[in-house]
Amino acid sequence: MLPKLQIALDNLSFTDAIKALRDVGREVDIIEVGSVLLCAEGKKAVEYIKTLYPDKIVLADAKIADAGNIISSMLFDAGADWTTVICCAELPTVAGALEVAKARGRDVQIELTGYWTFELAEGWKKVGITQVVYHRARDAEAAGAAWRPEDIDRVRKLCEMGFQVTVTGGITTEYIRLFKDLPVYVFVAGRAIREAKDPAAAVRGLRAEFNRYW
Ligand code: 5RP
Repeated sequence: MLPKLQIALDNLSFTDAIKALRDVGREVDIIEVGSVLLCAEGKKAVEYIKTLYPDKIVLADAKIADAGNIISSMLFDAGADWTTVICCAELPTVAGALEVAKARGRDVQIELTGYWTFELAEGWKKVGITQVVYHRARDAEAAGAAWRPEDIDRVRKLCEMGFQVTVTGGITTEYIRLFKDLPVYVFVAGRAIREAKDPAAAVRGLRAEFNRYW
């Protein structure tokens, strides 16, 4: 199966986010209201984007650390299809958010930014989590962190555990081939699309790599 393509909107304002979507909103599979936009504009950014793109999966990247049921309820009420819980959250936070999600036919992803272990991943599986987001953190990238063979191995192991794995963190066309043997569920591209001279061409370039390798 071809990976899905997700655009990450880490804009500082809703106006900029809408501009970023203008040429590509209909071309991607998933629209992420990024952590940055969520902090800047709050849940109304989710509301507006779901209203404008009702047929797209809208992900609110809240990276929830506590109060899983309360925060996820707010975001699902605003129209989010999926939201994220950070990997260091306590298991009851994960379970609370997931319970709310399942009651509404939505879903929760575990955001693997920072420290986590495969033992924790077993725990997420046990409470019913099916999606994880393997993330080269933006700050780590800025500090020089590259995509390494051990990242690919960890993504492979998560796939083998049965998770649907999203890969994110400074993804550009040149990185897609690194994951070519793996059943990656979603690739996220934020800056690679938003900051491209021709965002629609950037989307086509990513899709071309999907078609080449899957
Ligand atoms: C930051 C995020 C971003 O949404 C994610 O890293 C994708 O953006 P980019 O492709 O620009 O790195 O979750 O915490």
